[in-house]
Amino acid sequence: MRKTMRFFVLMLTVVVFMLGVAAVSAANLPQSDDDISAGAQLYDKWYARLSVSAPEGNHPLWERQTSNTRSGAETWRCAECHGWDYQGAAGAYGSGSHYTGFPSLFVLAGRLSEQEIIDHLNGKIDPLHDFSGLMDDNSLRQLAVFLKEGLVDDSEIIDPVSLKVRSGNVENGKNRFETVCAACHGVDGKTQALHSDALEQSLGDVASRDPYRFLHRSRFGVAGVVMPIGRDLGWSTDDSRDVLAYVQTLPTTTDKPVPAGAGADSEPAPQVGGPAPGIFGGIVTGLGVFFGMFGMSILFILGFVAFLGAIVFILSKRK
Ligand code: HEC
Ligand code: HEC
Repeated sequence: MRKTMRFFVLMLTVVVFMLGVAAVSAANLPQSDDDISAGAQLYDKWYARLSVSAPEGNHPLWERQTSNTRSGAETWRCAECHGWDYQGAAGAYGSGSHYTGFPSLFVLAGRLSEQEIIDHLNGKIDPLHDFSGLMDDNSLRQLAVFLKEGLVDDSEIIDPVSLKVRSGNVENGKNRFETVCAACHGVDGKTQALHSDALEQSLGDVASRDPYRFLHRSRFGVAGVVMPIGRDLGWSTDDSRDVLAYVQTLPTTTDKPVPAGAGADSEPAPQVGGPAPGIFGGIVTGLGVFFGMFGMSILFILGFVAFLGAIVFILSKRK
């Protein structure tokens, strides 16, 4: 009887110790989901980040413009109205098919408080600009944090006509690209097909045609995509620009239409299952598997302890 009890206590100690180890390792994991990156991904495509479908029809404010002829889900994205450079009609979307005339968000950056920005997002300022029924409070806050602290002004370094980086350290960009990004995108940027605007593109295409989107996504990530990002890698503003400058030297493809079934708004397809490509993905998968196994073993041990407890209980009743 004594022995069983001692074993029981020992097992409990082991379980508590293992739970402690799990908690400590979880706390030490790199923070890839900080407010700024989360807010940036919401800005990109909030419904993808929140794994919900976009509302039906066009955004109500869409009626205030007629120049941008897109419709449906796209019209609900912050990036479609305010631009990848955050400058709205004052920036890259000042002309062309994306032109709406909607305002730049830069004016706000330092000036408004987080709460004042949130008030622009929950309909307090303009009832038609109300996203509070579509996202939770934390997402609105993350958007505000991103707008206040995450915006980068790259307009000085990107030539508005050629869209090329005016001056950049291409050697630094090449180094960074080849050590981290090439694992998935390939040294020529063509390995990972990118889906956007109903086209299949290489990374060189995106860098050359939409440099601001390239910068936004390589700094802050793409919702639903497992990928190392500049913000987590400790890249400076200039490092991201250098990588852009280098990727702009990579070959562009002749666009191929997206295979049937992929849908018009299919960029980027979230990755589900399968072995993770590249070293970073491997680490993430590895950690996932590790903690998955960990959880299973804890469950198993708890079950075992319960079983022992039952035996102890039965034995003590017998006496
Ligand atoms: C359909 C187009 C559209 C979408 C989508 C949209 N906005 Fe706006 N936004 C506007 C317009 C128009 C204004 C200015 C007038 C107003 O507030 O209605 C504005 C104003 C703002 C302002 C105040 C800026 C200022 O200087 O007045 C902020 C902040 C803002 N938007 C952030 C966002 C964020 C974040 C998202 C994504 C959740 C978003 N917007 C989505 C059209 C849009
Ligand atoms: C683990 C694999 C992986 C690694 C490593 C990786 N990416 Fe990606 N990347 C992806 C996937 C997957 C997509 C989305 C594909 C799609 O569009 O369906 C993507 C998308 C992108 C996009 C968005 C393209 C667009 O259409 O707007 C950019 C920009 C990008 N990656 C840059 C980088 C940079 C810069 C690095 C290095 C820091 C990097 N990636 C490393 C897998 C990776």
